[in-house]
Amino acid sequence: MNLKIAALAGDGIGPEVILQAKKALYAIGLVFDHEFVFEDAFVGAIAIDKTGNPLPEQTLNLCLNTDAVLFGAIGDPKYDNNPDAKVRPEQGLLKLRKSLGLFANIRPIKPYASLLNSSPLKKEIIQGADFIIFRELTGGVYFGEKKLNETGTIASDLCEYSEEEITRISHLAFKSAQNRRKKVTMVDKANVLETSRLWRRVVKKVSEDYPDVSLDFLFVDNAAMQIILNPRQFDVILTENLFGDILSDEASVITGSIGLLASASLGNTNALFEPIHGSYPQATGKNIANPIASILSAAMLLEHFGLHKEATKVYEAVEKAIEYNVVTVDLNKDSKFGTNEVGDFISNVILSKDDLYFK
Ligand code: IPM
Ligand code: MN
Repeated sequence: MNLKIAALAGDGIGPEVILQAKKALYAIGLVFDHEFVFEDAFVGAIAIDKTGNPLPEQTLNLCLNTDAVLFGAIGDPKYDNNPDAKVRPEQGLLKLRKSLGLFANIRPIKPYASLLNSSPLKKEIIQGADFIIFRELTGGVYFGEKKLNETGTIASDLCEYSEEEITRISHLAFKSAQNRRKKVTMVDKANVLETSRLWRRVVKKVSEDYPDVSLDFLFVDNAAMQIILNPRQFDVILTENLFGDILSDEASVITGSIGLLASASLGNTNALFEPIHGSYPQATGKNIANPIASILSAAMLLEHFGLHKEATKVYEAVEKAIEYNVVTVDLNKDSKFGTNEVGDFISNVILSKDDLYFK
C-alpha cells in the first residue's frame, strides 16, 4: 500500500515523539512492503511564529490532500499565561478538526499487565479495565459562538448540538460496541443541559438500530467518579466534546501514564491520529517524553487502513518495550532510556532486530 501522510509535529515535545512514530511506520513499511511518504508541515505556536497563523493555508491544503494526518502536540506556555492573546496555537488544531470534518475522536483505555503497579489507582480496581471513549470532536462549546462584553467583564461560550451531529458519532460508537462487549454508556448532564437532553433522545433513537447493544446513561459528574471507582463497568463511552476531553485525561490515570494514550479522529473523508497528551513544554528537547502514545497513534492509522497485521506488530513491539522496561521516566523513574532509545527499541523489534538487545 502507498500512503501519503502529513506529519504535523507541532509544538513542545511534538517533533520528538512524531519522529519515533515515523520510525515505527518506516520499519513497518520495510517489513510488510508498504510505502509511507511523509510530508512535514507547521501547526500551532511554531506556525504562528513563522507565519502568524496557527494553521497556515499550506498546512491545511496538505492535510486535505493526503491520506492521513499524523499529529504531534500543540500549545505553548507563552499563550497559556496570556488570556489576551488573539491568536492561539490551539485554534490551529480546532480549525483543522473542523476543516477535515473529524467529528469522532476515539480514545482506547486499557492498562498493560506489566504496568498495573504504575497507576496510582489500586491494581484490583484497574485490572481488566478495557474501554473506548467516543468523543464528539467538532461541536459543542468548543465551536459555539464566543462573546466578551465591551467592558471585558462578562463572557459566554455557546454550547450547541444538532441531531445530525449526534447521530453520526452515535452510529460509530454502537458499531464499535457490536465488536466488543456490546455496551454503550452515554455520558451527559441531562439533568441540567438542554443539549444533553437532545443527546439522550437522539442516542436512544440510534440505539434501536443496534438491538444487540445495551445502552445506559450516566451524568458526567457521576461518570468521573465511576471511571476511577469501577472502570471495568465500561465498554464504549459516548459523549460530547468537552466532557470527552476531560474524562479521557482522567481515564489515562488507569494506564499509568498519559504518555501511553493514542487517539484517532475520524470524519467521512479524512483521518488524523494523535496522542492525547499535550506539548509538555517542560520536557521539550530533553529526550524524556514518552513516544509510545505517538507510536500507538501510528498503529491506529494502520488499523484505519485495514493493515491489521501491521498494527498488531506495532502493538506487540510496544508491549515488548513495556515488558522489558525499555520505557521513559514517566513509567520508571530510574529509567536510563529516553524518547529516542524507546523509539529505536520499538522499531528494532518491528524489524525483528530485538536480538540486538536480548542475546
Ligand atoms: C485534546 C487537547 C485539545 C482539546 C486542545 C489542545 C485544544 O486537549 O486533544 O484533548 O481540548 O481538544
Ligand atoms: Mn485534552
